[in-house]
Amino acid sequence: MAQNWTPSSWRQKPIQQVPDYPDLAALAATEERLAKFPPLVFAGEARRLKSALANVAEGKGFLLQGGDCAESFAEHGADTIRDFFRAFLQMAVVLTFGAQQPVVKVGRIAGQFAKPRSSGVEKQGDVTLPSYRGDIINGIEFTEEARIPNPERQIMAYRQSAATLNLLRAFAMGGYANLENVHQWMLGFVKDSPQAERYRKLADRISETMDFMKAIGISAENNPSLRETDFFTSHEALLLGYEQALTRVDSTSGDWYATSGHMIWIGDRTRQPDHAHVEYCRGIKNPIGLKCGPSLSGDGLLELIDLLNPANEPGRLTLICRFGHDKVADNLPRLIRAVEREGKKVVWSCDPMHGNTITLNNYKTRPFERVLSEVESFFQIHRAEGTHPGGIHVEMTGNDVTECTGGARALSGDDLADRYHTHCDPRLNADQALELAFLLAERMKGGRDEKRMVVNA
Ligand code: PEP
Ligand code: CO
Repeated sequence: MAQNWTPSSWRQKPIQQVPDYPDLAALAATEERLAKFPPLVFAGEARRLKSALANVAEGKGFLLQGGDCAESFAEHGADTIRDFFRAFLQMAVVLTFGAQQPVVKVGRIAGQFAKPRSSGVEKQGDVTLPSYRGDIINGIEFTEEARIPNPERQIMAYRQSAATLNLLRAFAMGGYANLENVHQWMLGFVKDSPQAERYRKLADRISETMDFMKAIGISAENNPSLRETDFFTSHEALLLGYEQALTRVDSTSGDWYATSGHMIWIGDRTRQPDHAHVEYCRGIKNPIGLKCGPSLSGDGLLELIDLLNPANEPGRLTLICRFGHDKVADNLPRLIRAVEREGKKVVWSCDPMHGNTITLNNYKTRPFERVLSEVESFFQIHRAEGTHPGGIHVEMTGNDVTECTGGARALSGDDLADRYHTHCDPRLNADQALELAFLLAERMKGGRDEKRMVVNA
């Protein structure tokens, strides 16, 4: 265990993004209650995810991480969870085919509630109120009452996470995630897409592979790996009192684990090496993510890597790069070179969302072309550096929302008002998310063909 670390040692450190709870006694009482609740995930599951991510760090897998920017109490329901899971699994199948590698599936779900904000207050007209910080903290309605942080919301978020996880586990293990189902959903998507012609080639090759497997007797009935899937949960570990309450000792290893989700990450605003969020995360054994934005230097990154992964264990640390389509070329190579120079083992993942947010018609949005462009640059840069572009991290939903512009259906700024439901950042809708997977899979395949040509030349 890390030296001098306890689940509460973060409380001695400076901290950013803390809600202003008016009743600290009520907050402490809630944390005490939470500390007695059952864990949401088990240490053994977190270890399994870590070893899957270790494969990715070694270039033998691909990480797909995605889900809401902020889960909300209002959107909690079976259909929302099911539709997300369907879209996500289709992306995973397409990417598996593109990468010809196992895809590690990690949702931003079942705990992704707390949000860091650029400003502590929000102004509308003459009224200034505390910012909305996610349903686990306060309410999104622009009223004085809703914006007061309420500890009871932590209990609600815990219960929602448990219910969400329960359904996801049933979907993942109960036959719904059957590869044949996912294949059929994907064919439905391709048929209806305005870009059907473009996607059909890849879809046909997946279909042929499925037919071939069937022909030689590999089916979902006789092969659990076609019937079931490993699905993991993740969220930003922002609200540390909640995280601490769910930090438990694993009886097998004696180590501390965050049991609020399988993987947790540190946000771009809270990654100061001597502050509370890094302190909390360094002591738990889960796989962790670190958001890397334009202000992170090579040396700054190495300092964080030493704190968060002193044993240089592959799978422990995923670097989630979020620079922006126009900044990735200036920022990513120096981080890759620093990591390579010191021989650090990490998973490189690309978050093409958070550096590409713009405002259009008073809506926060993200142009699909920029999202795609950042991922493409990420891949090109890794190829040039000889490192493994290990994954993507996207904000997405299974619903047909109109939050990001562009994509095959060419959503415009005028369409945003139609179905803009996000509680925080704009998400790719199901079609846009799948398109991203198809376009990426095409390029992964292209990259492999290129390599083969070079080898054979
Ligand atoms: C997020 O992932 O929703 C987020 C706030 O990201 P970042 O910390 O990279 O800004
Ligand atoms: Co976000």
